[in-house]
Amino acid sequence: MSFIGRSKKFITGLLLSGMMISAFAGCGKTQDESTQIPKVKYINVGFSQVGAESDWRVANTESICGTLTRERGFNLMYDDAQQKQDKQIIAIRNFVAQEVDCIVLAPVMETGWDTVLEEARKAGIPVIVVDRMVDVTDKDLYTAWVGSDFKTEGKIACEWLNAFAEKKEIAPEDIHIVGIQGTMGGTAQIGRSDALRDACILYGWDLLGQEPADYAKAKSKEVMLGFLHRYENVNVVYCENDNEALGAIEAIEESGRKVGTDIANGEIMIISFDAAHSGLSMMLEGKIALDVECNPLQGDALCEIINDVEAGVDVEKYTYIEEKTFTSDDTVKSVIVDKKVYDITPLTQEILDGREY
Ligand code: AHR
Repeated sequence: MSFIGRSKKFITGLLLSGMMISAFAGCGKTQDESTQIPKVKYINVGFSQVGAESDWRVANTESICGTLTRERGFNLMYDDAQQKQDKQIIAIRNFVAQEVDCIVLAPVMETGWDTVLEEARKAGIPVIVVDRMVDVTDKDLYTAWVGSDFKTEGKIACEWLNAFAEKKEIAPEDIHIVGIQGTMGGTAQIGRSDALRDACILYGWDLLGQEPADYAKAKSKEVMLGFLHRYENVNVVYCENDNEALGAIEAIEESGRKVGTDIANGEIMIISFDAAHSGLSMMLEGKIALDVECNPLQGDALCEIINDVEAGVDVEKYTYIEEKTFTSDDTVKSVIVDKKVYDITPLTQEILDGREY
C-alpha cells in the first residue's frame, strides 16, 4: 500500500476521534515533547504550520509531516500556530534556540517576519517558506519558497466566469457577485481577492461586497447569511476555499434559494478554490460550478529542497506546484490567463476517486 493510502485512513481516524492536533505530533514531535535533539544524524527540521483551519491545511500538514520522516532521515518538530502569527514567531524562536538544521514556515500572513527571520539567519539556520509568501525587505532572509500561484488561480476562476457568461448570453451587469475571503493579509487571500476585484472592473460585473471568513465553514455560513439578507439579487458567490463554499451552500439552501449554474432563473452559482475532496463531492452534486485546485501536496518538493540545502547544492528560489481546474459541466473547455492556456476539466466520479486528498 502506498503511503498516501495509509495516510488517508490515518487522517480519517483522527478526525473521527477529534484528536487531530495532538496526534500530528506523531508526524514528528511537538515542541513541548521535543526537549533534546537526538544524537543520531538526522536533519532536524522545525515546521511552523498555520493551523488546521481547512481540509486543504490538513492535507498540507499530512503531506509535509508524511514526507519529512525518520525513514527519510528527518527529525521533525511540528508546531500548530492556530492561525496566530505571534505563535509562529514564538515557534521559530524555539526552533532557533534548539539549533535545528532547517526551519519550514507556512506563514499565516505576508508581513511582519523581518525580525524573526533575521534571528534565524544570524543563527545560520536556513528558512524554507511554504504555501503563502513572506513580504520581507531582504529576500535572502529565506532560502526558498514552495507553493501556489494564487493570483493566477483567481484569474482562471474569473476568466471561466466571463467565458461561461458569454456562452450563456448573460450580460455583465446581470452578474451580481459576492466574495467570501480567506484570512486577510495572506498571499492566498490577496491573490484571489485582487483577481476578483480586477475582473469586476474589467468586465463590468456588479461586485456587491467582499468579506473575510478565515477559510472556515461556520464563519462563511454567517457571512453568506448576511449577504443574502442585504443583497436579494446576488447570483454568484466567489468562495476563497472549499470549506467556505460548504458554509455558503448551507446558508443559501437554508434561506430557501437553490445553488446551481442557472443564474438566469434564480439559481446562485458557487465558485471555489482548493479542489479538496469535500468541495469536489459538492461539485458532483451540482452545487459547486467551478473549483480551481490549490495543491497542498508540497512534501516531496520540500524534502528535495531541504536535502539539497543540507548538501550545499544551490536550489531554485521559487517552486510552483502543478494545479488543475474542475467544473460541473463542459460549457467552457479552457481559458487563457497571461497568454497561457489552462484546461478546465469536467469532473467525474472516477476523477474524484483517483485523487489523493
Ligand atoms: O494558503 C492556502 C489556503 O489556506 C487554502 O486555499 C485554504 O484552504 C487554506 O486554509
